[in-house]
Amino acid sequence: MSEQSSNGQAIEVAAADSELYQPSPEAVANAVAPNYLQLRGEALADIEAYWDARAREMIDWFEPYEKVLDDSGAPFYKWFVGGKTNIAYNALDRHVNSWRRHKLALIFEGEEGDKQNYSYYQLWQEVNKFANVLKGKGVGKGDTVTIYMGRTPELMIAMLAVTKIGAVHSVVYGGFSEQALASRIDDAQSRVLITSDGAWLRGKTVNLKDISDEAVKRSSIVDTVIVYQRTMQDVQMTPGRDHWWHEEMALPIASPICEPEPMDAEDPLFILYTSGTTGRPKGVLHTCGGYQVYTATTLKYVFDLKEDDLWWCAADPGWITGHSYIVYAPLILGSTGFMYEGAPDYPHPNRYWKLVEDYGITILYTAPTAIRGLMRFGDAWAEQHDLSSLRLLGSVGEPINPEAWRWYHRVIGRENCPIMDTWWQTETGGFMITPTPVVALKPGSATLPFTGIEADVVREDGSTCEPNEDGYLVVKRPWPGMARTVWGDPDRYVEQYWSEFAQQGWYFTGDSARRDDDGYFWIIGRMDDVIKVSGYRLGTAEIESALVSHPDVAEAACVGIPHELRGNVIHAFCILNDGVSGSSDLVDALKLHVRHEVGPIAVPSELSIVDGLPKTRSGKIMRRLLKAQVQGLPIGDVSTLAD
Ligand code: PRX
Repeated sequence: MSEQSSNGQAIEVAAADSELYQPSPEAVANAVAPNYLQLRGEALADIEAYWDARAREMIDWFEPYEKVLDDSGAPFYKWFVGGKTNIAYNALDRHVNSWRRHKLALIFEGEEGDKQNYSYYQLWQEVNKFANVLKGKGVGKGDTVTIYMGRTPELMIAMLAVTKIGAVHSVVYGGFSEQALASRIDDAQSRVLITSDGAWLRGKTVNLKDISDEAVKRSSIVDTVIVYQRTMQDVQMTPGRDHWWHEEMALPIASPICEPEPMDAEDPLFILYTSGTTGRPKGVLHTCGGYQVYTATTLKYVFDLKEDDLWWCAADPGWITGHSYIVYAPLILGSTGFMYEGAPDYPHPNRYWKLVEDYGITILYTAPTAIRGLMRFGDAWAEQHDLSSLRLLGSVGEPINPEAWRWYHRVIGRENCPIMDTWWQTETGGFMITPTPVVALKPGSATLPFTGIEADVVREDGSTCEPNEDGYLVVKRPWPGMARTVWGDPDRYVEQYWSEFAQQGWYFTGDSARRDDDGYFWIIGRMDDVIKVSGYRLGTAEIESALVSHPDVAEAACVGIPHELRGNVIHAFCILNDGVSGSSDLVDALKLHVRHEVGPIAVPSELSIVDGLPKTRSGKIMRRLLKAQVQGLPIGDVSTLAD
């Protein structure tokens, strides 16, 4: 097999070793983009022409754009300049005005087994009604709305209603604590919060409304809270401020007709907070035009989405994976999506496989941590079920170890389903390095950059690494789905992503990677102080600042330690204040404190009380040394160590 490289030369994509999974001839013949490899070369030869064609094909525009790409303000790129559109219109209205009107848009199953279906028409009506409720609360174009809910259709309805009226959503994952929620509400300056009484998880309820109340107390700006009733648990409703979703939706103001707000392609679409190298989470901003084009194109080509597929992206809508591939792209493409509320192993480790069988799911997209977690229960749980409806599988969030890849391929895919290992980030909007069903696979490799994406692995000086040499993963040209800025902090955007290779004008991903002799990309992991725990992205600084906010802690450092199931776990080191002595009670109290300040996902699995931390002469904590020490590895170069 050969293909065009970015400089037009043919590069061979052949087996480096015996473990290469070639696509079947039928898969290639039936693929949405059978000529994908050739398209990659064409797209790079003229990215503007390529994205122009995709923008016309994937979405409707109220007014055409005048220019595909404006790079005059780089790295603040603009795409589809002057075009007017609306993402909720493309996701719903245009299907309602077509033969898809009564096609199923969403099939939902709750953790307790309750079921709900929405046709495009029904989802459109609910979204319109809720959009009118929001308008009635004074929400308009450009206003920010924070959403803090469990994984139910109402979360999707809320997001689509916000974007329909031109407002900007900031969805905060339901696993975050009151402090994390409060700081995100404040940073986004949102007056309106949409939440629910609670969410189901492993047969218990998470008290989302209580957490919301605390967060609202800590922030000064929220004057309206809309509460969806999910678990029916007792909650406190503050008169004047809090309103029940179902009561609002029954009022005359909740009319089922709502015209979409025409949005400029570069108007803000949503903010999504993610962890970076400092304690303050950053609000990554995506905009209305390019994001739609990019997410729809990537989903269609990579997961080969056809009209009769039943697509299940098992992520949480509170993360970028859910934004792009549960909510927006599947609806833009007019497909039927499946959503499940709860945990993969509840009440038994066969829950996922039972869902696949019960609904006849054709494509499943999940994370290595879930795969490893289910693999450990053995093959029998999956073998109880008929999984023959599946034709494609996917993975995202962290490198998938070859052993988990093979299990997923053999037991879940019955050696019939190619695995799309998609590498991307909150900041990239959609898949960046990924196979499609026509690309030969290697377990553990995300394979090749997507059409129109020029990625490379380089050294510090910007020179391209040799095959099999580790280096910085960079993207050399802009793409429509790229983040446009950090909300309220453009300098941070430049500093974080565009300063490492400022001279060359490349986007630095924060990841290290290598390419093999076939040009396949192997992602190694984060180069910065970001830790991936069960696929969740956490900054060491966030956890450290939570620890030092405890009255007994003087200083703290956190490192990620590799873990078989969770990818990484957190090991924290704390220096206590004078006069405080360490005890196992204090260790427990500190862990609880992190749970309150950040959320359960950030709780360190180990916490050591220490007398000192290794630092450079300039005072930077050398986390590398702590990590080596915990793992019993050689300490390496210590010439910069102060003491
Ligand atoms: O380190 C990479 C890892 O996840 C990071 C991005 O995290 P987040 O913004 O939370 O988005 C996750 C979902 C898109 C990346 O910098 N990562 C993501 N996908 C993969 C991956 N690492 C290896 N292989 C992947 N497929």
